Amino acid sequence: MRMATWKLTVPALAGPADAPIYVRLAQGVVSDIRRGRLSPGQRLPGTRAWAEALQLNRNTVVAAIAELEAQGWVRTTATRGTWVQESLPVEPVSAPPRGLPALSVPLPPSPSFLSTRPFELPHDLLHLSAGTPDPRHFPVELLARTWRRVVRRRGRDLLEYGDPAGHPSLRRALATMVADVRAIPATPEQVVVTRGSQMALDLVARAVVSPGETVAIEALGYRPAWESFRLLGAQLAPLPVDDEGLDVDALGRLAAKRKLRAVYVTPHHQYPTTVTMSAARRLALLALAKRHRFLIIEDDYDHEFHFEGRPVLPLLARDEAGVVASIGTLSKVLAPGLRLGFVVGPTALIDRIARLRAVMDRQGDHPMEATIADLLEDGELQRHVRKMRVLYQARRDVLVKLLRARLGQVLDFQVPSGGISLWAKVTKPIALDAWRERALAKGVVVSPGARYRYDGNEPGAMRLVFARFNEAELHRAVEVLRSTLPSRAEP
Ligand SMILES: Cc1ncc(COP(=O)(O)O)c(C=O)c1O
Repeated sequence: MRMATWKLTVPALAGPADAPIYVRLAQGVVSDIRRGRLSPGQRLPGTRAWAEALQLNRNTVVAAIAELEAQGWVRTTATRGTWVQESLPVEPVSAPPRGLPALSVPLPPSPSFLSTRPFELPHDLLHLSAGTPDPRHFPVELLARTWRRVVRRRGRDLLEYGDPAGHPSLRRALATMVADVRAIPATPEQVVVTRGSQMALDLVARAVVSPGETVAIEALGYRPAWESFRLLGAQLAPLPVDDEGLDVDALGRLAAKRKLRAVYVTPHHQYPTTVTMSAARRLALLALAKRHRFLIIEDDYDHEFHFEGRPVLPLLARDEAGVVASIGTLSKVLAPGLRLGFVVGPTALIDRIARLRAVMDRQGDHPMEATIADLLEDGELQRHVRKMRVLYQARRDVLVKLLRARLGQVLDFQVPSGGISLWAKVTKPIALDAWRERALAKGVVVSPGARYRYDGNEPGAMRLVFARFNEAELHRAVEVLRSTLPSRAEP
């Protein structure tokens, strides 16, 4: 759909200066069409306005249009005007390739590469590996009402430039939240608000890692975080993950051999396996970081969703040496499209991050940040989380039951104690690519397990998300997986 609200700047003259004006005018239009500035079906300005804008005789414009029409570029009607032809005599040219310099560290292959869910996925496809909340439960009315109230009352401040570390009200509300719920004794100065955890990760990385330095990561883990470190020129050291989370002994051996700058971990619910890091490993990890002075970058992306027992506290809650930065996000609590995340950590680190952020992005969306702060102060967000937690737990139970009943022969999994997904290991030699393709043909998407492994090999497991889908959808998804299961003999 074309927007039709702008007054079109009339095409300028083009071509050799000694050619007749009407020819140059026609060439100007052709050039604009070929560059894609004017598109097929677009209406051109009236001859009078056009002539006035270029200070030409109107007959010159009429002659130019007749020339364009004769060449097949435009069509005119006697009374109503002139339009660019729907089918053009020559295809528009795309922008000429520019010689961009090669980068020492190559970029990811495409912007969508970091996302499990393609940007324009048809809504009737069930993307079982997309780790995002159910958008149907997003509190639209509440958020819209609160936004309007907050901006009406405080717009004079909120619409100006503000603190790159985040709107003070949200820093305060988040500091209270992490102190109350996550037992992190944080002041607002120890919190910086970012656009999602991806920016948080990138900023923490920039604040502490220099090119060539080593960052340890989970060999089965979260690729978007790895990309931030890789693009900075860091050396990534993948370490094994097992039923207790990251193998901290392996980290200890690495730290003894090589100077480590940081380790990136997901201790609460390891991504993607969902296992919680054991207490013994947590203590060992903190002790190692203190001894070797590396930063623990803790990605606490789904803290709010823990179903059984109490959520395990973040590493930062036990950090007495100032070696942990903890990253949080509202992408799972509300929606990824809001782009709200945060870092809690030592003030010196937060201050560096705020300076880096100011250069990259000036500041966040303060009207939205103040709105979210309001929802936190009123307890509305907490109510939403409680509601979603009950819903997601029920959905987890549905998926668990369905998988056991219908796919128990080929899938094995631990019931996750929290989060929004489960990690199912394939116990039989099945042609996984063929399975995924057949399921896709029936509207169910499962991401290749290889995307979660640093070495890109197939882990023989799949990430299945329950939070996004209602019971009927989970049912449909599992039935599709069951009905598309290849026989073992298939390649
Ligand atoms: C491990 C992990 N960290 C962070 C996030 C959230 O990312 P963001 O806050 O950038 O939307 C996700 C969401 O998929 C995740 O899986």
